[in-house]
Order: sequence, then structure tokens, then C-alpha cells
Amino acid sequence: MTESDFMPGSYVNDTTSGAFTWKAPSNIALVKYWGKHGNQLPANPSVSFTLDHCATTTTLRFKKQEKFSETFEIEVFFEGERNDAFRPKILSFMEKVVVYLPFLRDYQFSIHTSNSFPHSSGIASSASGISALALCFMSLERELSGSMSEAFFYRKASFLARLGSGSACRSVEGGLIVWGAHEEIVGSSDLYGLTYPGEVHPVFKKYRDTVLLVDRGEKQVSSSSGHGLMNGHPFAEQRFAQASSNISKLIPVLREGNTDEFTRIVESEALSLHAMMMTGNPYYMLMQPATLQVIKKIWKFRKESGSSVCFTLDAGANVHLLYPEEEEKRVAEFINSELVVYCENEQYICDRVGEGAVFNE
Ligand code: PMV
Repeated sequence: MTESDFMPGSYVNDTTSGAFTWKAPSNIALVKYWGKHGNQLPANPSVSFTLDHCATTTTLRFKKQEKFSETFEIEVFFEGERNDAFRPKILSFMEKVVVYLPFLRDYQFSIHTSNSFPHSSGIASSASGISALALCFMSLERELSGSMSEAFFYRKASFLARLGSGSACRSVEGGLIVWGAHEEIVGSSDLYGLTYPGEVHPVFKKYRDTVLLVDRGEKQVSSSSGHGLMNGHPFAEQRFAQASSNISKLIPVLREGNTDEFTRIVESEALSLHAMMMTGNPYYMLMQPATLQVIKKIWKFRKESGSSVCFTLDAGANVHLLYPEEEEKRVAEFINSELVVYCENEQYICDRVGEGAVFNE
């Protein structure tokens, strides 16, 4: 599909008011997206697990305006309270997608949003937040259009979410999601996320992700500045090639359920991502001392116990522990005895691979 396939056809219904609610999950990348070009296109393909508990729920209330407006008419509420801090991000998202959703200027919107994870936990809510809003807009577009296939509905929601915040396009459908064209993955595209079409061993369908909240502070360098620093980065081309090659290596690993090789790929990806931050210009570091302590503890525990637990990091100091469902009990004991001391206020979040976004009646 190309960008023009997402331009709307004619609308047949004249819906005047209503509301839609979607709950959209967060996701954690196994092979990382870091660097972009053009209109929010990834410099390399990435693969993620869709999460389950970490999610944003958004209700979009809409009312048709008397006449066409040049500006977007929105009011935003976060966890029940009016919140003007989120307005600029939402307005900028609407600006980016209005060409694909021209009805956005015809309505007054009231957007009510809340997160399942603690505010300022250091967990980015942009993927789940943008995805939930894209899905609400798509529900309205489907209503105006009269009919729309399920497949197109989700594909366009992912396409729109990508324009708001790259990795948000991987927060629509469940399981394993690929974003970015990869020659060995049929149907993969730079324009939207795709449910990984290859064979997946049962062990990876129920993988657990426990997020250790090592540092709940604001990031010193935002993801968008970080992506920008990949332009002209001395190792950029090698990094983009490495990510593609890691996806090639992951294909048999996912099929065969090879958790040892999964660990090597996923941990190497996390450290390569942070190595890019440390070797750019300007260089910076998002890991904290506690991040390193946790990583060393994981390596020691794995060596001594034969466990399959591994770690990954996103653009921050928090550590995601990934492990098979059957290891839930022993990893919980390990976390409580050895890792919880590194978490701010002893906080961590237990999550797992999820089924994707849900429409709330
Ligand atoms: O979608 P963004 O612009 O917030 O970038 C996300 C980047 C990483 O989380 C570090 C990697 C990824 O693929 O999710």
C-alpha cells in the first residue's frame, strides 16, 4: 500500500455527535527503531511485543460545528482533570493527519484520557496515547464512511499513529509487530505496523515483561532529539544494517522458541541503542548506575540458575525483564530478593504480551 491509499473516499453519513472509547497498549521493541527520515519513516525495521497492562484509555466525544473551522476545536482532560499541557502534542498530531482525516476540522472534540501505569513512572505514554486517539478518530471515520473492512481500519489506525509518534504504529494490534520494510518479511512496510506473519513458537506468545522503575524522572534528551542525532552519526549505517540483520536472525529464533539466541539478540539491541546515544554528537547517557547494577545481577542470576530471563531498555533508565511464562515464580523471587532495591519506591510493573487495542462499548 502507498500513502495515497489512506486518503479518504467520500463520506456518506452526517454524524452530528457521539463518543468512542479505545484502550490501546504500550509496546516494547526487541529490535529497536532509532533514526528516521522523511515524514516519520524509520531508518531501519523494528519488531516489538505488544504489551497488555500498560495502556492508555481514551474517550473521544465529538459534536459537529455549525460551520467549517480553520483551527481544531479541542479540550483535553487527563485522569478527569482538564489538562492543557497535552494540547500542543494533540494539535500537532491532528495537523499531521488532517489530510487523511479531513473531518477533523468539522467537529468540536473533547478528549478524555488516562493511563493504567503511574504518571511520571518514566514509562512513555506516547505510543499508547497516540494509538488510542488514532483508533478513536478511525471509529469516527468508519461511521462517516458507512462501511470499512476491519483490516483497513486497523492498518489506517497504525498508519496515522506512526505520523504522531513512530513506535505508536506498533501499539494497535497484538502479539509481535514489525514496522519497517524487511526483505524477508512479506507485507512489511515503512508506513505502518504489521502483525508478524512468520511462525511464532508458543513460548513467545505468553512472554512476560516486568518493568523495573529504576528512574522515574524526566528524560534529559527526548526520543525525537535522539532520532535526530542519528543523522550524521558516525555509526549510523552500521547500526541500521545491524538492526535488519538482527531481524533476519530473529526469524528462526521465533519459530524454534530458542530463548538463548533470543536473549543474545535482544540484549545486544538494547545495548546498541544506548551505545548510539553515547557515541553521538553531542553524546549523552540515559542509563543510570542502577540500570547497570540490574543488568549485572541479571547476568549473574542467569549464569547461576540457567534461567532464560533477559533484559531490554527503551530510551530511558528503566529495565524491562523478559522471560517465559513458566519462569514467572522464580523470576518474581529473584526480583523481590535482588532487584527491587534498585527501583524507585520499590516500584515495578508486571506485564505480558497482549492482544492489542480494545474498543470499549
Ligand atoms: O516512537 P518514538 O519516537 O518514541 O521512539 C521510540 C524509540 C525506542 O523506544 C527507543 C525504540 C523503539 O523501537 O521503540
